[in-house]
Amino acid sequence: MSGLRQKPIGVFDSGIGGLTVVRALTQSFPHENIVYFGDTARVPYGSKSPQVVREYAAQDIDFLLGNDVKMVVVACNTVSAVALDVVQKRAHMPVVGVIVPGAAAAVAATRKKRIGIIGTRATVNSKAYAHAVRQIASDVQVFSQACPLFVSLAEEGWNDHQATDLIAREYLFPLTLEKIDTLILGCTHYPVLRRAIAAATGAGVTLIDSGAATAADVGQVLDAHDLRNQSAQKPDLRFFVSDIPAKFTEVGERFLGQRMGLVRRAPVGGT
Ligand code: DGL
Repeated sequence: MSGLRQKPIGVFDSGIGGLTVVRALTQSFPHENIVYFGDTARVPYGSKSPQVVREYAAQDIDFLLGNDVKMVVVACNTVSAVALDVVQKRAHMPVVGVIVPGAAAAVAATRKKRIGIIGTRATVNSKAYAHAVRQIASDVQVFSQACPLFVSLAEEGWNDHQATDLIAREYLFPLTLEKIDTLILGCTHYPVLRRAIAAATGAGVTLIDSGAATAADVGQVLDAHDLRNQSAQKPDLRFFVSDIPAKFTEVGERFLGQRMGLVRRAPVGGT
């Protein structure tokens, strides 16, 4: 059993954004080994059809399974929204997506029972967050907005930039009209733009980082399956991407909040 506990948690995303989830995981579980895969050759997933995202998700999870992981965290909101079942069917181990934890955290936070959801077009069109919120609390109203430009702004590192403030105001204005008091950041990239998003929504709106909410669920899964790594050693964090790693390493350290070390290329699905 101790061998199983020391195996890594597998985390995957369409690209770099899932490092915000890894950041939350390393803060909550400083001794867990992690293998991360970012499909940088095929990002973005959020503008693609559910069929294509499902194909990619199957290839991504197969890569992680080949790295002998003990559980899987689907960091990508888009995959969690349209292809979680594909991952669950292949994995034969605990799988945690970001939608249900994010929805639960938002329901716990809202006082006025009015929740905003922002994400990629694929995530918003899937209505997965809205469905998850209503499953938990049927009397909560949800209002959604796709914010596709946020992904590029985060990749560029434009957290403190007038253009980001302007675009955030444009995207979020309709949600402020709906008098939301809670906003789900339903995309891996959005926590990086938290300042601009908070400025656009105003102080009365609680921002929910689905990645951070997911870390709590991962803890429950580790305990329920007796999978916590008991070792006090410095963990092994391994990063793989499907395109050449140069840009990933440069931008990724900002998402991750720490140095990344060696990032390796791992072609999947013919990339
Ligand atoms: N990782 C994606 C998500 O969380 C955002 C980037 C993309 O569109 O692939 O939805």
